[in-house]
Amino acid sequence: MDLLPKSAQEFNEKQYWETFFAKRGTEAFEWYGEYPQLCEVLNKYVRTKDHILVAGCGNSTLSADMWNVGYKSMVSVDISDVVVRQMQQKHAAAGMTFTKMDLMKLEFPDKEFTCVLDKGTLDAVYTHDDQETAEKVETMFKEIGRVLRVGGRYVCVSLLQGHILDKLLQWFPQQGWMVRICRCKGAENTDSGGIPFPVFVVVCTKFELKPGSPPMNVLEVTLQGEKPRRLPSAAAVRQAVTSLQQFAFTRHGLTSPGSGEDLRLELCDPDTDRTRFVLFVVDRWRKKTKKAFAIFIVPQGRETEWLFGSPAGRRQLAETAGHDRLVVVHLPARDHQYGDLEQVKAELSESVMQLRPGHLRDDVQVPFLTCGGDLGRRELRHRGTSALSGQYVVEDVHLEEGESVRRLVFLANVNVIQSEARLKRVSVKGQPAALEADGDHLSCCHHRYMAAGVALVTEPSAAPAPAAAPARVLVIGLGGGGLSRFIHGKFPKASVDVVDIDPEVVTVAKDWFGFTEDDRLRAHVADGLQFIRDCKAKGERMETWT
Ligand SMILES: C[S@@+](CC[C@H](N)C(=O)[O-])C[C@H]1O[C@@H](n2cnc3c(N)ncnc32)[C@H](O)[C@@H]1O
Repeated sequence: MDLLPKSAQEFNEKQYWETFFAKRGTEAFEWYGEYPQLCEVLNKYVRTKDHILVAGCGNSTLSADMWNVGYKSMVSVDISDVVVRQMQQKHAAAGMTFTKMDLMKLEFPDKEFTCVLDKGTLDAVYTHDDQETAEKVETMFKEIGRVLRVGGRYVCVSLLQGHILDKLLQWFPQQGWMVRICRCKGAENTDSGGIPFPVFVVVCTKFELKPGSPPMNVLEVTLQGEKPRRLPSAAAVRQAVTSLQQFAFTRHGLTSPGSGEDLRLELCDPDTDRTRFVLFVVDRWRKKTKKAFAIFIVPQGRETEWLFGSPAGRRQLAETAGHDRLVVVHLPARDHQYGDLEQVKAELSESVMQLRPGHLRDDVQVPFLTCGGDLGRRELRHRGTSALSGQYVVEDVHLEEGESVRRLVFLANVNVIQSEARLKRVSVKGQPAALEADGDHLSCCHHRYMAAGVALVTEPSAAPAPAAAPARVLVIGLGGGGLSRFIHGKFPKASVDVVDIDPEVVTVAKDWFGFTEDDRLRAHVADGLQFIRDCKAKGERMETWT
């Protein structure tokens, strides 16, 4: 049966619906789920004492189901003669009202209803993001606004394509209405035949806008079952909705093994909209094995390691773990508490189960893997802003087996550690032991090779000819100052100049990484290349640059 339109444009043509319902007969065709799947949200916003207009009822069971649970004051309208006749025949005996009517020209007096309920009709009318269709939609909105009382609600079940969301967020606040977007998870459950994309219930509440007052800007969302929260702008609402849609879209593409090679997804904290987890879906091969699916939680602070931080590393991790699909989870948020592994498991279970290969049931036990004894701990020591590189943090990361490191991380790229120093415990009499950057240790492997190179030119025993004067060493890039400190501390014959372009970095090195200057160690705020040119111009000679 040719039931779906050849082009989406046909959805907003009366003739399409006449043919659709004539071919379909009386068998209900539901858009976005039936009342039992939607009632978790609908019951909050549609009251049994409401006088309800069901806009574009089609042959859905929604009106009858709601009637049966006590919504007795209801008129259902549709543009299709065929469907209205069918619905009248089916339900007139029960006392329900079905009327043929065009939503663009409602034949009701002003302020007749307290609720207008629309399931799929706006989506069907607003098929194309063009001027003509947008004007049609505005006519429909005006009519809905006219027949609603102040305080009444336009409750619209929609998939919220971008242009539809934008129109709702633009038009209703401009008229002084409040807009709340609720996700309806019950309608999405694919296992019970729901649709694989997020279904939203948009509730637009009519307020009277006084002439000359600015548009209302009360925009709220509840997308993960949380309490409705207010967002500052239409753009923020759009972002929250879009990221949910993208997640669902990706998840839908992941139903077969082999389809999700190192795909990246983010999960946000619903209260703050900040990224709380980053998930990488890694598929090993297209074959199905008995070990189908596992989750690997990367302890905090270890997400930058090759094995967890790079696609090749994660592939190796998946090979080692031996599962067809491995979801590698990073815990990147600086200002969130994650609790222990059990808490993270409980928090993540529902979301990660949506990423399981399609053949797995949703009640299957999925192993959560990790490495080391715990989830690591990140302690924020300082947060600041550099005029050159933006926001940064200094944090102490407590790794396994009692090892702790201090890191400088620019938040514009949290996957790169700008500087790292091992921490040592220092006791001062009468004071609690404190953690300090250990100047005797080089955290970065490449710094060890650089320091070895310096040894060759500064140490008489290692150098081909004894150096007469102190060997001058130029270090470009200070970071936490670990390399400069080490050279200064270990090579007494070295005189070290260190250049960094960012004055904030010099402050951080001094305040947080134990960097101090003296007559053999000097920090300069300058462009490294220019500093070298200036040295050359002044005839200054360096034995080594690092
Ligand atoms: C996507 S279907 C949704 C049907 C039903 N609400 C459901 O959930 O199954 C859209 C419905 O809107 C009706 N419709 C389209 N344009 C309309 C208009 N201008 N006035 C009234 N109904 C309209 C169509 O006939 C169709 O029944």
